[in-house]
Amino acid sequence: MSAFAVWDEGEARALLAGMGRGQDKVLPMLQALQARYGFVHAAAVGLVAAAVNVSRAEVHGVVTFYHDFRTAPPPARVIRLCRAEACQAVGCEALVAEAARLGVAVDGPPAGGVAVETVYCLGNCALGPAALVGGELVGLLDADGLRALVAGA
Ligand code: FES
Repeated sequence: MSAFAVWDEGEARALLAGMGRGQDKVLPMLQALQARYGFVHAAAVGLVAAAVNVSRAEVHGVVTFYHDFRTAPPPARVIRLCRAEACQAVGCEALVAEAARLGVAVDGPPAGGVAVETVYCLGNCALGPAALVGGELVGLLDADGLRALVAGA
């Protein structure tokens, strides 16, 4: 079961109404909507634009600029794999190849309800390769560990 609420335009409108009207609110509003619904629904762009009196194009630009915004419901499980320098030095790219072998291309579309996404440093460099899964840090990740994570273990 998803941890996110089902998109509800009326509820989203009420959520935005309590956040002020300044143009500096675009980013926090989008973040709040994504936190609530798991992604930025297409209708949310117009709601945010109206709430702060900017164009839909400007809001859409913010959504597409920031990699963390999703425009579709998130997969059931997201594995965020660190590919920064320290983790590269201890083999994270082999895990990228392993993910592809498992049918889940890193930064590609979800497969089987699983997505593997690139992140750059999780602050767990001493225990690399590192990943973040469901808010939990995973260290010393190897191919067996990645297979288990993809399988949902
Ligand atoms: S470089 Fe991977 S956790 Fe810091």
